[in-house]
Amino acid sequence: MKFTENSSVSLQLSGVHKSFGRVDVLRGIDLTIGEGERVALMGPSGSGKSTLLNCICGIEGVDRGKVVVGEQDLSNLDPRDLEKVRREQVGYVFQSFHLLPTLSAFENVEFSAQLAGMGKTERSSRVQELMERVGMSHRLDHFPDTLSGGERQRVAIARALIHQPNLVLADEPTGSLDTETGAQVLDLLKSLSDEYKVSILLVTHDRESTRICDRVITMQDGLLVS
Ligand SMILES: Nc1ncnc2c1ncn2[C@@H]1O[C@H](COP(=O)(O)OP(=O)(O)O)[C@@H](O)[C@H]1O
Ligand SMILES: [Mg+2]
Repeated sequence: MKFTENSSVSLQLSGVHKSFGRVDVLRGIDLTIGEGERVALMGPSGSGKSTLLNCICGIEGVDRGKVVVGEQDLSNLDPRDLEKVRREQVGYVFQSFHLLPTLSAFENVEFSAQLAGMGKTERSSRVQELMERVGMSHRLDHFPDTLSGGERQRVAIARALIHQPNLVLADEPTGSLDTETGAQVLDLLKSLSDEYKVSILLVTHDRESTRICDRVITMQDGLLVS
């Protein structure tokens, strides 16, 4: 599988502000992530990390500032185009996996490819290939509730990569896993990011997880501090 070359920058944030009611959650975020770069985002609970990820993928709009994913500036987009950018350019990995319970492992990944507009024949072979790559080809027909945590996260990682995004946002992806399983999942993320030149923004509480990253940034009260 080959990912298309887009630009040398995967993500560019400048002066991003976001508040909920009177609470200023993001207070001027500047951040650039290069192609294939892995960045760890740390910081106390409630400091705005998940909100930042939601603003990057367009789930939340920003009040002020600029979010550019690949070459696409999100600020001028209507909701439909925003969703298209999200489905085509960004992958998301969550702490609690967020697999659809009524779909098999294979179907969970395939559904994401379908949403990104991939044709049936193409997506079927890509899902096979990627499931093999994440070590899940022997569990294609299994439903999420019959998989272990580590297996679910492998499926979720395949789902996040199937549409060939530029950027994967991972919000505490090892937070529900034991140490050893978590370490394996991180190794997998690292090797896939190298292989496919996909950038990763990894939110983590755990210093150890930052070993797969090129640099670490810290958020405090809605600001990035070094
Ligand atoms: N949809 C929302 N509505 C209101 N407040 C929110 C919403 N989402 C997050 N917040 C608030 O924003 C702050 C930052 O939350 P969050 O981004 O989840 O922090 P973190 O991921 O760093 O723990 C918290 O005070 C949280 O209560
Ligand atoms: Mg969070």
